[in-house]
Amino acid sequence: MDPRIKSGGKLAFLIAGALAAWGACAGRSDEKLMRCAEITKKPATRFHLVQPCSFSRMVIVGLTRAPSLERCAVFAHRKQGLAINYNQAGNDMASNCLVLDCPEYDTLLSLQPHSSFDYYSLYSRPIPEENTTCIPGVGMVYLHRGKVNYSEAEDLCENKGGRLASVVSESRTNGLSRLVATLGTQNKLTVAYVGLADTKVEGQFISSKNEPLRCFPYRAWAPSEPRHKKSREDCAVIDSRNSWRVVDCKSKHPFLCELTPSGPLQDDVQACYRLADIKMKAMCLARANYSEFLSTTENPDRCQELEAIGMANLNRTLSAEGSLHNATMGTQGAT
Ligand SMILES: *[C@@H]1O[C@H](CO)[C@@H](O)[C@H](O)[C@H]1NC(C)=O
Ligand SMILES: *[C@@H]1O[C@H](CO)[C@@H](O)[C@H](O)[C@H]1NC(C)=O
Ligand SMILES: *[C@@H]1O[C@H](CO)[C@@H](O)[C@H](O)[C@H]1NC(C)=O
Ligand SMILES: *[C@@H]1O[C@H](CO)[C@@H](O)[C@H](O)[C@H]1NC(C)=O
Ligand SMILES: *[C@@H]1O[C@H](CO)[C@@H](O)[C@H](O)[C@H]1NC(C)=O
Repeated sequence: MDPRIKSGGKLAFLIAGALAAWGACAGRSDEKLMRCAEITKKPATRFHLVQPCSFSRMVIVGLTRAPSLERCAVFAHRKQGLAINYNQAGNDMASNCLVLDCPEYDTLLSLQPHSSFDYYSLYSRPIPEENTTCIPGVGMVYLHRGKVNYSEAEDLCENKGGRLASVVSESRTNGLSRLVATLGTQNKLTVAYVGLADTKVEGQFISSKNEPLRCFPYRAWAPSEPRHKKSREDCAVIDSRNSWRVVDCKSKHPFLCELTPSGPLQDDVQACYRLADIKMKAMCLARANYSEFLSTTENPDRCQELEAIGMANLNRTLSAEGSLHNATMGTQGAT
């Protein structure tokens, strides 16, 4: 097995309705401007257990031995990873913390059952859309091809569970620009709205997360930008050539929306996570199909051992915690 092989098709994963609710709480007008110090010491976003007993074959950008998930997460943030394969019981392994450039985002196609690794992601909720792409090391970005004005773009993006994409680094700008390039022909300059505007105070650009642009060293203004020939030229677009420009906020353009890393997935996974390691494994094992499980692991003996321990523990757990049982046995959504 070569874990570096990236998954193929980006099958659409359509879960439209629920998203509106997730985005609804984002609100922007009531937030105050962040101070630069607040931005740099913002706590790192948590990795959430998405699929126990699973191993993702997204591209590995770093690997290490980490004595705890927390340490693995710190390492992952340093490597700008967006997901992790973590082996909690991997004392004997050289590396039990594998950092991935992107989360699983089509239909979890490159996830495979694994006896000892669990798959974690910054994005624990299903990543829902067609037209949503991973920019490695940056995040998940939704490209809306329809043309709308800036405030509509902000609203639509919040409804998707995100904010207009931040452009404050070279990797962001270049990654987003490549997406914009897919909108048009090679010779034509195409643009899309991003999260940058100076609507409140002329010349003071602010990101969609209320971060002042002056807190960041990176700039990618096109020559003679930012210009303000007309009074409403306060909203930024990114073009297909790695540059930022300002346009009239009323003008209509596609937009780039950066999905907000999301909180816990489903109750059953959380319930599973709260269990001590071996009980969690028991739950995992109860869910897994053993023939498949055994055929994909490099260590069938270890797997059978786990299976035996797992089943014994599962029996005990089940009698003690009956409700947990049906929450983890595939009756998802049941209360
Ligand atoms: C994705 O993009 C295609 C092509 O522009 C468009 O037809 C489709 O409606 C988009 N899907 C969503 C969910 O935005
Ligand atoms: C954007 O469009 C919406 C709906 O057409 C409109 O209500 C709003 O005033 C427009 N905003 C700007 C800044 O033009
Ligand atoms: C488990 O896997 C085996 C072999 O791949 C397959 O024949 C069987 O149908 C699977 N069972 C379930 C419940 O998926
Ligand atoms: C678990 O419980 C089932 C049903 O009660 C029983 O058949 C099985 O032998 C038990 N397994 C273990 C390992 O205790
Ligand atoms: C789950 O278990 C609880 C209590 O054990 C029970 O009330 C509930 O009906 C069960 N739900 C399902 C879907 O079986």
